[in-house]
Amino acid sequence: MNSTLDLAEPAARLADIKPSPIRAIFDRASELERAGERVIHLEIGRPDFDTPEVAKQRAAQAIADGKVHYGPNAGQPELRAAISRYLDRRHNLTYSPDDEVLVTIGANEAVFLAIMAFCGPGDEVVIPVPAWSAYVACVRLAGATPVILPLSADDGYQVNPDALAAVMTERTRMVVLCTPHNPTGAVTDPKRLAGVADVVRDTRALVLSDEIYAELVYGGQRHISPASVADLRHRTLVVGGFAKAYAMDGWRLGWLAGPKELVRPALRIRQFTTICPTTFAQLGGAAALDEAGAEREAMRQEFERRRNVALEVLAQQDVLSPGEPGGAFYLYLSYPERLGPSDELAWRLLEEQHVAVVPGTAFDSDGGKHALRISYACGIDDLREGLNRLVATVQSN
Ligand SMILES: Cc1ncc(COP(=O)(O)O)c(C=O)c1O
Repeated sequence: MNSTLDLAEPAARLADIKPSPIRAIFDRASELERAGERVIHLEIGRPDFDTPEVAKQRAAQAIADGKVHYGPNAGQPELRAAISRYLDRRHNLTYSPDDEVLVTIGANEAVFLAIMAFCGPGDEVVIPVPAWSAYVACVRLAGATPVILPLSADDGYQVNPDALAAVMTERTRMVVLCTPHNPTGAVTDPKRLAGVADVVRDTRALVLSDEIYAELVYGGQRHISPASVADLRHRTLVVGGFAKAYAMDGWRLGWLAGPKELVRPALRIRQFTTICPTTFAQLGGAAALDEAGAEREAMRQEFERRRNVALEVLAQQDVLSPGEPGGAFYLYLSYPERLGPSDELAWRLLEEQHVAVVPGTAFDSDGGKHALRISYACGIDDLREGLNRLVATVQSN
């Protein structure tokens, strides 16, 4: 046998797919915990609440009723109908449950399917950064080219239509929007959406609108779906899910909604990849959308309380700037360059202070070299303590 054959060489499309820095921090934090240390987790982007009871009961009932087999590729009709009702009720979006809603395995699968369905070699996808790292990774997996559009703290991390116009070319196939935004918490201003609509008009760019944090808005802010803006609906695919607002991250449920011409190609991939999301989980998901509005609102209020506490703590110092976080459950803290690169600062915080945060470089942005993301999806005492340690560390440098 030829021992020089490299059996483990991955396909070329994996060349730029790196392990997630968030994972690396989390793994090291877990290692410290196994060694008996107490670590404060400000890195995790998932709620610390339990799933609403009604969803658990409905899923358990579904198992008892034998809903344990394959279902339709597009998802269970009950859940598609519930998503369609929900989008209409909460976000003023009308999509037919028959062919305009695809139930996905988390919002992540929705992002992946949308990008795989429409973007390939030669296509460009504009991604405002800092950004959730899956967008760039999915674009690369699709063989398309990510085009970075830097967002700035001075502009409230809003998409600037002029800057968008400047990076668009005839190869632009998709523009990714995320509101409320991970990692900055920015809620996109409707005027900016109108500006985006002007820029993409007469182009072949689709809009991939990630609205997984749509329910998590604070301080009187309102979530406006890009798809509800005149002129954008016909080119927009809306991504949503259960992980953040319903504390159902482990259920792996989400959706992709849009005009049927845009949803159908994504469904074609689904037939040959995952077939369908877990059948009984979907019935629990339908119950959550239809009946757990009060639990969702209680969680939102608690997140808002934590956000306000975090901003109060940060108001007592001037090294870390949180920007204008109107939604999601993150603060993106930019800081002066003299404190060194965010990778180093994040690792130092973990090793010396036992506070886990995410370096800004995890979000595909150069600006992230001097920023940290913290999540306030943790208990309020941990949040306060973690922030105090963070502030003490940056002030002593
Ligand atoms: C912006 C954004 N979109 C999508 C997801 C993935 O959500 P899900 O767990 O439903 O796949 C995340 C998870 O952190 C996210 O931050």
